[in-house]
Amino acid sequence: MITKTIFGSPMDTGAITAEIPVVQDILYYNVSVQEKEIVFTCPLGTDDIVYGLGETMGRVNKRGGRYISFNTDTAEHEESNPSLYASHNFLLVDGKEKFGVFFDTPAKVTFEIDYKNSGEIRVICHTRDLKLYQIQENSPYAIVRTLLKAIGPCYLPPLWAFGYGQSRFGYKTPKDFTDVVKGHAENRIPLDYICMDIDYMDGYRDFSVNEENFPDLKGFVQDLKDQGIRLVPIVDAGVKIQPGEAVYESGIKGGHFCRNKEGGFFQAGVWPGMTHFPDFFDENAREWFGNQYQFYTNRGIEGFWNDMNEPAIFYSEYTKGPRKLGFFLDMILGEKRKEKKKQDLIRDYQSFFHNVEGKRVRHYDVHNLFGALMTRASSEGLQRLLDHRFLLFSRSSYIGASRYGGIWTGDNTSKWEHLMLNVRHMASVNLCGFLFSGADTGGFMGNSNRELLLRWLAFSAFTPLMRNHTGCFTKNQEAYQFGDTAAFRKVISLRYRLLPYIYSEYMKAALTSDMYIKPLAFEYPGCEAIEDQLLVGGSIMIAPFVKEGTSRTVYLPEDMTMVRYDGEFHCTPAKKGKITLEAGYDEVVFFIRKGKLLPIGPEITNIRDYNVENLTLLGDGDSYALYTDDGLTRDCTMENVRYL
Ligand code: GLC
Repeated sequence: MITKTIFGSPMDTGAITAEIPVVQDILYYNVSVQEKEIVFTCPLGTDDIVYGLGETMGRVNKRGGRYISFNTDTAEHEESNPSLYASHNFLLVDGKEKFGVFFDTPAKVTFEIDYKNSGEIRVICHTRDLKLYQIQENSPYAIVRTLLKAIGPCYLPPLWAFGYGQSRFGYKTPKDFTDVVKGHAENRIPLDYICMDIDYMDGYRDFSVNEENFPDLKGFVQDLKDQGIRLVPIVDAGVKIQPGEAVYESGIKGGHFCRNKEGGFFQAGVWPGMTHFPDFFDENAREWFGNQYQFYTNRGIEGFWNDMNEPAIFYSEYTKGPRKLGFFLDMILGEKRKEKKKQDLIRDYQSFFHNVEGKRVRHYDVHNLFGALMTRASSEGLQRLLDHRFLLFSRSSYIGASRYGGIWTGDNTSKWEHLMLNVRHMASVNLCGFLFSGADTGGFMGNSNRELLLRWLAFSAFTPLMRNHTGCFTKNQEAYQFGDTAAFRKVISLRYRLLPYIYSEYMKAALTSDMYIKPLAFEYPGCEAIEDQLLVGGSIMIAPFVKEGTSRTVYLPEDMTMVRYDGEFHCTPAKKGKITLEAGYDEVVFFIRKGKLLPIGPEITNIRDYNVENLTLLGDGDSYALYTDDGLTRDCTMENVRYL
């Protein structure tokens, strides 16, 4: 059961689409309404588990931490970072009492969860306008399902979006892209798309292309498509200020940009230099922005990643100073600079305004919704422009944005701890509704190496978004750059052999408001402390290697089938209990749950060759519900399921 309680006059964040009954009683939490904030406290039992908060640092069990929902561009994030790129204000307590609460406000929210052993949850909503959704069910899984139903149907990507993608900040010319295609083809490593980072643009300007490098982008897109490869350009939140240029001029004419204190259009410095931010809170501006994607769809493009939409600001018309050099200077100057930057950012966020249904609203007060509304604008635009499904994922998000697109978890680092972070994130973002998600496989900052990339790929093979992405100063990170191409081919090809399962499980979960990835304890109570094993879909348990080495401990909560993939599948029964698992870097081991089946497809290197005619079934179940369609149609229903 889910109920809603309203404090003050909150804006509609669009997070929840279902009709929810309004109640006055707040169960479990004590409430204190103060001058500028509402504070909720709730005592915790010593063994209570607290799930939630989606994309945040820390463990899946959020106890012991302090987290702040305030969407922030946090390259090089570490354990101590209270905020990442997203705000997923949902907490689920699993103890004697089981309940979930979603604190629905676009304002900043601070969560202290048994912080410094306080023995309580303390949530400070830095606003007096709020919708509080309370969910009571008899298990954590049931609580999440009630939330996901209330959010509404999840985004459905096309089948090709489940293929392997390659990306790098720095690909610039057609040759950079064709080299990537060649590198994968020559080594028979599967590939389905390549992301175009900001260097494809003319002066880092959205909805433009560097004509010198790409005199015929449409032709180039088609050439690659003929080889089964799609191009996926980045789109940043800020629109470059460039008088005379059509997109800019139409934005000005329509009044589609955020206003500054003086009533003019706010100027923020990002990659292209000074930009205006579209006012995604304004329906007309959203429509205008969404329509701009026509620039790409006219050229045959069907996939996009939206970036810098917290929004990231390097400097602004109010905080020029040394921030002029932005990102690069930040990286060089370290801590002091970070502190100054934080102050400047707050000042900037307080200095521009949105038009929310005719009312002027300070950005700072609704900050956490900006990225989600960018995703909405582009998703709705693409719905109008295309007659089939498209790939769309965003860096910033808020609960509910999962109806419009997927997310990736931003600028992580090439280190083992961030592979583990990726594992934790997948559990936590799924329970906030973000099924289509993934991290920069291999790591964005710093240099990856053979072992780390192989293990990361072995984990990403199970996440809906499987994209290798790295930053501009790092070593080459494509799967064919580490000599040992056979190992990389093997690990990535596992993904393609699992596709009938991954696609089916994703589509079924999205269509029935279910989770795609779950913490182990959601099906096996008692396993709450195990965070380095996850359930993927209904049939599989994974136990990824998240540390260097070829041996790890795995706990089997029941008898299962152990599957070792080394280019072939080898199944052996595995008994309930603790086992020591040995696996070379070129192998992937996972488990099929008791009474379940796993469909395996033929070896392919591109989605073009995907077919479900000759599937092999592994495991000891009786039947499997396979979802099939043409991978593009929007008309997806559970009627597309057939039983094997
Ligand atoms: C941001 C993105 C990163 C991208 C870079 C350049 O840092 O998070 O993925 O490569 O901008 O566009």
